[in-house]
Amino acid sequence: MAQSEIGLIGLGTMGAALALNIAEKGFDIAVWNRTTEKTHAFAEGAGDLAPKITPTETLKDLVAAIRPPRAIILMVPAGAPVDEQIEALSPLLSPGDLIIDAGNANFRDTNRRAAEAGEIGFFGIGVSGGEEGARHGPSIMAGGDGEHWDRIAPILKAIAADFEGTPCAAFLGPEGAGHFVKTVHNGIEYADMQMIAEVYGLMRDGMGMGAPAIGTVFDRWNEGRLRSYLIEISGIVAGTQDTATGGPLLDVIVDAAGQKGTGRWTAIEAQHLAAPVPVIEAAVVARNLSARRDARAAAEDRFGKGPQPLDGALSEDDLERALIAGKILCYSQGFGMIAAAGAQFDWPLDLPEVARVWRAGCIIRSAMLDDMAAALSDDPSRELMMAPHFAGILTETHDALRRVVSTAALKGHPVPALSAGLAYFDAMRTARGTANMIQGQRDYFGLHGFARLDDGKSGQHGPWAD
Ligand code: 6PG
Repeated sequence: MAQSEIGLIGLGTMGAALALNIAEKGFDIAVWNRTTEKTHAFAEGAGDLAPKITPTETLKDLVAAIRPPRAIILMVPAGAPVDEQIEALSPLLSPGDLIIDAGNANFRDTNRRAAEAGEIGFFGIGVSGGEEGARHGPSIMAGGDGEHWDRIAPILKAIAADFEGTPCAAFLGPEGAGHFVKTVHNGIEYADMQMIAEVYGLMRDGMGMGAPAIGTVFDRWNEGRLRSYLIEISGIVAGTQDTATGGPLLDVIVDAAGQKGTGRWTAIEAQHLAAPVPVIEAAVVARNLSARRDARAAAEDRFGKGPQPLDGALSEDDLERALIAGKILCYSQGFGMIAAAGAQFDWPLDLPEVARVWRAGCIIRSAMLDDMAAALSDDPSRELMMAPHFAGILTETHDALRRVVSTAALKGHPVPALSAGLAYFDAMRTARGTANMIQGQRDYFGLHGFARLDDGKSGQHGPWAD
C-alpha cells in the first residue's frame, strides 16, 4: 500500500543516515538498495524507527510504496551511477513525480539532468555535514524548480540542522545552483583544512610542539574567533592517542591527502568564471603535492629538509591571527565566486542566504558565518573583506599573516594557502597593478591592443605595431 511520503535509493553511509533522519522526524520513508541484504539489514537495524521505514526489494516495489506525486532521493555516487539510476527509475514513475539527487554531483551534470527531465522532475541538493550531519542535521543547499522545492521543503527543513531556530536548508536557484554552492562549500572546506594543516606544521616542525600540545592550542582557539567544526575536530585529531603505539595517532597517519574531487571542481569552475580563489586553488594543489610522497622524500634528500626551527620567531597568537585573516580572505574569495556564478548563469544566488545555510550542519560551519551573513546582507555587492566588520578584523590581523608567511618562507615551511591569502590581500591593496606590463607584452607579440590611462581609449598599439 502506498503509504510512504518519500523514497530513498542508496543505503550507503550517507543514505542510511539520511533515511533514519527522515524517519526520526516522523515521515514515512520507503527505501531500496541495489543489494537487497543491505536493505533488510538497514530496516532491521532501524530500531524504534522501523515502523516508519518500508524496505523494498525492487524499484517497482519502491515506487509502489510511495504516495504520488512521488519524491525519491538518490544517494548514489556522483556521475554515471546517477544517470543509470535515473534511467532505471524513470519508466516506473508518473508525470509529476520527482527525482532528487542528494549526492556530491557536479553542477553541470545537474544542469543537464534538469534540462533532460521531462514530466518527471529533477532536483539537486548539496548535503553537507558528513554522516553525523546526514543523521542528525545536515546543511542542505537546494537547486531546481521552485514548485518542487515547495513540495519537499517541509521534509528537507525538518531534517536539516538548525541555527537558532532557522533550518539550514535553502532553495538557492534553478537547475544546478544547489550543487554549485555545495561545490564552493567544498572548495572552502579544502582551504580551511589546508590553512589549519599549515599552522599545525609550523607548530610541529618549527616550534617543536607534540600533537597533544597542538591539540590543546586548537581547543583554545575554538573558544575564540576561530570557533568552528574544523578547528574543533582538529583539536580532537591532534589530541587522540594511537592504541597500537600509545603515541599520538596523528604521528602515524600517512601525510598524503585523499580527495574525491569536489574541491578540484571549485578550482576548475573558478577559472571558467575568472573568479580569483587563490587560497582554494592553493589548497587543491597542496593535496595533489601531498600525494607525491616519494618525490618529496627524494627532494629532501637532495636539497636538505625544508622546515627549520623558528627559534621563537612566531607565537601561537601570531598563528591564530594569521588563520583568522586567511579565513576571511578565503571566504571573501568564495562568496565572490558564488556572485560571479550568479551573474554568469543568471541564477538569483542570495549570498546572505548561502552564509546562513552554512551556519550549522555543514563541515565549514563556524562562528564567523553569522557575521558573514550579516555583512553580506548589508551589501551583497561588496567584497566580504570590505565589509566594515571584516575589514576591521583584517586591519588587526594582516600583520600577523604577513609575519607568519614571511617567517615560514625564511625558515623553509610550506604555507601555500596562507601565502596565497596574503598575496591576494596585497594585490587587492594595489590600485596601480603591473598588468600594464602584460598588456604591453601581449600587444608586442600579438597586437592584442591595450587601453591608455590618459585617454581611456582601448585597442591601441605600441610603436612596434609599425
Ligand atoms: C561534506 C563533505 C563531503 C565530502 C567528503 C570527502 O560537506 O559533508 O564536504 O561532502 O565529500 O568529506 O571530501 P574529499 O574527499 O573531497 O575531501
